Amino acid sequence: MEAFAITLRPLVFGLAAAFFSAGAVRAQTASFEERLQLCGSCHGEDGNSRLENIPSLAGQPEFFVTNQLFLMREGVRKIEAMAPFVKELKDEEMQALAAHYAKLPPKGSDEAVDQALAKRGAELVPQLRCASCHRPDLAGQEQMPRVAKQRIDYLIHSMKEFRDNKRSGADTAMTAVVIGVSDADLAALAHYAASR
Ligand code: HEC
Ligand code: HEC
Repeated sequence: MEAFAITLRPLVFGLAAAFFSAGAVRAQTASFEERLQLCGSCHGEDGNSRLENIPSLAGQPEFFVTNQLFLMREGVRKIEAMAPFVKELKDEEMQALAAHYAKLPPKGSDEAVDQALAKRGAELVPQLRCASCHRPDLAGQEQMPRVAKQRIDYLIHSMKEFRDNKRSGADTAMTAVVIGVSDADLAALAHYAASR
């Protein structure tokens, strides 16, 4: 999987760059289908990401995606890889993209779930009350993302960013949950959530 991601990534970024070097006019007039293709080059055509550390969007609550795109466009959540793709987005386009991804079925990635870690994660979830915000099935709601069937590597990466205060514009409700949680326990939570 790692080798796959490494060989694919420069290609994907190259394609995206080529699209945008065609100029601002092109970017502004991109059709919805063209935008979807572009998003899909990183997040997966069906919204299920096959690339390391890039989140799946399939089945994400509509409001979560709209909200994150808004935060990115306004420069509150800073993601270098995403910056060129959000700066031209109008509010209606964000809503349409979010509505599209909310309807797609989440499939999970092909990363191997470690059963021992997943078992430990199952114990931690009630202790840390993840379900009170992300729902008992971890499918998310409102501004709270789906974590069930998300990529394991991205779950670990994102929880570390909250814990270590590295996610710009992070919701402090989430930061408070993972402060002081060890790397091993974050991995356990990720393996459990991905396998739901
Ligand atoms: C060049 C690759 C690339 C392209 C193209 C791209 N994204 Fe992203 N996107 C990323 C990466 C990488 C992240 C995660 C960054 C992080 O938090 O580390 C991300 C994060 C996101 C998130 C936040 C998801 C979450 O679970 O936190 C949303 C929503 C999103 N992208 C939507 C889109 C949409 C819609 C498009 C098309 C308009 C798009 N992206 C195009 C790379 C890309
Ligand atoms: C008090 C409510 C609350 C609780 C409890 C909570 N979360 Fe969250 N979580 C959030 C919110 C809100 C966000 C979105 C944060 C943002 O927009 O910056 C989030 C984001 C996340 C993300 C980032 C996913 C992405 O796609 O970017 C992960 C992973 C996550 N939570 C996992 C967990 C786990 C695992 C637990 C239990 C250990 C947990 N959360 C408990 C509210 C909560």
